[in-house]
Amino acid sequence: MAGRIPQSFIDDLLTRVDIVEVIDRYVPLKKAGANHKACCPFHGEKTPSFNVSQPKQFYHCFGCGMSGNAISFLMEFDHMHFVDAVEYLADRVGLEVPRDAIATITPSQQGLYDALNECNLYYQQQLRTTPAAIDYLKNRGISGDIAQRYEIGFAPDAWHALEENTDSNDALLVQSGMQIRKDSGKSHDRFRNRIMYPIRDRRGRVIGFGGRVMDNSEPKYLNSPETPLFQKGRELYGLYELRRATRGSPERIIVVEGYMDVIALAEAGIEHAVATLGTATSSEQVAQLFRETDEIVFCFDGDNAGKKAAWRALNSALPSLKAGRDARFLFLPDGEDPDSLVKSIGTEAFMQLLIEEAIEASSFLFQELEQQAQKGADRSGTGYKARLAEIAKPLISNIPTGVYRTLVEDQLFEKVGVNVFGSEKQQSQKTYHQTQKQPSQPNMSPVRKALIAILDSPEVVLEIDPEAYEFSIDIPGATLLLDVISLIESKPDITTSGILERYRETQHSDALLKLVQVGMASTVESGINTPLSVLQHAIEQLNKESLRAQLKKANLNKPSEMSDQQKNELRERLQQLKKP
Ligand code: UTP
Ligand code: MN
Repeated sequence: MAGRIPQSFIDDLLTRVDIVEVIDRYVPLKKAGANHKACCPFHGEKTPSFNVSQPKQFYHCFGCGMSGNAISFLMEFDHMHFVDAVEYLADRVGLEVPRDAIATITPSQQGLYDALNECNLYYQQQLRTTPAAIDYLKNRGISGDIAQRYEIGFAPDAWHALEENTDSNDALLVQSGMQIRKDSGKSHDRFRNRIMYPIRDRRGRVIGFGGRVMDNSEPKYLNSPETPLFQKGRELYGLYELRRATRGSPERIIVVEGYMDVIALAEAGIEHAVATLGTATSSEQVAQLFRETDEIVFCFDGDNAGKKAAWRALNSALPSLKAGRDARFLFLPDGEDPDSLVKSIGTEAFMQLLIEEAIEASSFLFQELEQQAQKGADRSGTGYKARLAEIAKPLISNIPTGVYRTLVEDQLFEKVGVNVFGSEKQQSQKTYHQTQKQPSQPNMSPVRKALIAILDSPEVVLEIDPEAYEFSIDIPGATLLLDVISLIESKPDITTSGILERYRETQHSDALLKLVQVGMASTVESGINTPLSVLQHAIEQLNKESLRAQLKKANLNKPSEMSDQQKNELRERLQQLKKP
């Protein structure tokens, strides 16, 4: 399959894979201090100089100089092509590789989009001329406005309506899921005598339908089958409409189970709900939603099936959890769904319930795990605690490392009294031996120092006030430095490996790689300079350098261009910068 892999996906992938795990399958690694070590697989040696850094997600051999991230390792060691390496890694962490849709539309796919679009128009037109269908929707409290916004339609009670009323041939109708082909070779409409809910992708293109009967017959809902355009675990009903209604940045998104729940909530003025398509919530769907918002509330039935659905949703949410994000769970009273509940208690009460009663992901996690661990035994026994630790560990491991994960680990620690993750925790108070202290590189430029510090610990950038960068881009390397800084500002959880990936095959890739290596060589256990202080110092130096250059220019070159007052101001600022 052709098509460019979106950069955002590669960023995402590299924050999820663990390079130590990836390399360890090929070359068994031993933990040594902050790094993992082995004899280098790229050149013959007897003492290990091949280092893998977990925090940086980066490997480097001090013997032969080979270095890179998980993708490079697979390309170099296993001779994989770039795309194969990405697919291999995605598979390991349970992600599916998306392709830029524009690049992958083939003529035949365009035909499918066109066919579905035509069917959608036809169904909407049919609704307008079918009083029974209009009555059904009215009885369910759906206004013309909402029906139009969700493009609700009606499939007539006929076997060949689409062939007769649209331009699509039966091959296209079968491929798009709108017709069923029998063994005899004959085909007929899949949806008959049903209210039709078009399912649109996030860009608004119709990719399938859900169809509901108007009485009690079975099956109540019929959905389009999976087609080249429609993969159920990927799409969310109502996401396009939500994006339009909220103009892209909803405060929260509510995930419900049914089409009608989304529509009823919209009718009640709650326009930020989406539904999974009769399947369990996938981690891809959760990841997609967290791209739109920082808070997801899963709103499921209070019965057993609802609990099960919620548990699966929680499992899918774990890889997306981090500080600043919120996944919560609201269990509805028995026999209610969001549709019936919002109708009976009203919009305000529903929102209040959502805000006050929804429980936090970690509470739900422990609530469920504690129940599983209990198995009749009481909660003080060691058997219980051991079981709890055992079943919690693999789940918590799915949460990306970071503040949120640490908090959850601490919660587990409180419950079982043992630090289950003890040895794996990264040292948080890492210090860094500044390059100044290395006699071999006494005059390293501040740009290089800054980049070394940033590539060592990208998160230090987040500690710096964006106003602090006062230096001019005329300084050699400043553009690259600012480029890396803004990359980290826009992707706060990016790792060293992710940054390098962004520069793969650019003119800067070699320079950046070398700076990472310098940083790795000078990282020691003790020292007074942290990456943050190195960065701060380098920025100060750059600001001064820049000011001095401006002053010099003002004094010597073009005295007329700067007033005395401006020169004085510059001098004053230079004086201020000199103070400690
Ligand atoms: P529900 O049975 O809870 O539907 O199924 P609902 O939304 O409350 O439907 P109404 O209110 O009776 O109209 C929830 C979802 O499960 C899928 C559909 O996606 C539905 O929206 N489903 C349900 C099916 O695919 N097939 C079925 O037969 C039933
Ligand atoms: Mn319902």
